[in-house]
Amino acid sequence: MNLHGKHIVLGMTGGIAAYKVCELARRLQDEGATVQAVMSRAAQEFVTATTMQALTGRPVFTDQWSTEGGRVDNAMPHIDITRVADAIVVAPASAHFLARVANGMADDLLSTLVLARRCPLLAAPAMNVEMWNNPATQRNVATLRADGITLLGPADGDQACGETGSGRMLEPHELLEDLVAFFQPKLLAGKRVLITAGPTFEPIDPVRGITNLSSGKMGFAIARAAREAGADVTLVAGPTMLPTPRGVARIDVQSAQQMHDAVMQHAATSQVFIAVAAVADWRVTHAAPTKIKKGSGTPTLHLEANPDILATVAHMNNAPLCVGFAAETNDVEQHGTAKRHSKNIPLLVANLAQDAFGSDDNELLLIDALGTTVLKRASKLAQARRLIADIARRLP
Ligand code: PMT
Repeated sequence: MNLHGKHIVLGMTGGIAAYKVCELARRLQDEGATVQAVMSRAAQEFVTATTMQALTGRPVFTDQWSTEGGRVDNAMPHIDITRVADAIVVAPASAHFLARVANGMADDLLSTLVLARRCPLLAAPAMNVEMWNNPATQRNVATLRADGITLLGPADGDQACGETGSGRMLEPHELLEDLVAFFQPKLLAGKRVLITAGPTFEPIDPVRGITNLSSGKMGFAIARAAREAGADVTLVAGPTMLPTPRGVARIDVQSAQQMHDAVMQHAATSQVFIAVAAVADWRVTHAAPTKIKKGSGTPTLHLEANPDILATVAHMNNAPLCVGFAAETNDVEQHGTAKRHSKNIPLLVANLAQDAFGSDDNELLLIDALGTTVLKRASKLAQARRLIADIARRLP
């Protein structure tokens, strides 16, 4: 649970995107957060307080003159509601609400508790494209950013009003991912991290090829963890259907040669290179241009070696900090140690192939010049965060 122990004040202002916040309220709790909804009068035109109470299991606060939500002795909900909060998340955040916050106005419960807060404020704008692009809104947005307020989105796309452009509120899963990232320590702020993930596919003919069972889950989790840690992340991915982690630049490739070429374009400007991909060691020398027919007999495949991407990067002048992976079926530590030496890299992460390929969790061995550290079985995202913390300690 990525938000275990966190208490979130979920502010809602008027906007059709309010219906999506019902889903967000559930997802926040699925991740272990407690949620206190506070709704403006306009928000209640779109979703009722009863709905939000049912979804959060708590009374919803709507009225700045009510004593509900305040301590018994002072009756000041606009102060007390946020004193136990880890963050206020306002979604949807209307143009009007952003303007009021930018100008320090406090004329209802939500704007008053925002002004009186001690905890971070994150806002998910939701409005018509022209309202978003209006210079007045953009001035307010610049002020909010300068004041340290985190804006989540908005996204581009089709809008409820029938127009198209920027101003769509992020989807609940995107808001959740951004909020989880917000709470992670920024151990790699300002660093560029390059990651390979997934399998490669080496064509035999236009419909067949040589590949392996890598799902991409481990590499994608590391990309997410690196981005959560504040890095600028480029993910070179072999064939996989996984969604791209938020804020990560993804380059899709098929073959090892394509993966090599994409990596070499970014390696010199990266501070960290993490090779998680299960790269095919060989490719078919001459892939057939048309489908090989079964009737023409069993084909003989001639193979040639693919470039070793990790070894190439590790041998660059001013190479980034290189981290390799090894999936072994037996003697994991022994083979991992040998692979670290052969690849000439400071850190190799070894795992048991039978457990690692395609699974949601994994045990990792971190092998460096000093020895081996075991990261006991956990979800790949949890392991990715531990690995990123370890890598951050190794950077100058
Ligand atoms: O994707 P998942 O289903 O989540 O599974 C994760 C994983 C098992 C694929 C991952 O944890 C893992 O172990 N990846 C490395 C797989 C492997 O055994 O690689 P290797 O021994 O062939 O290569 C060693 C290292 O060199 C790896 O970092 C690899 O990316 C790199 N390499 C290998 C060959 C090559 N031509 N170029 C490379 O860069």
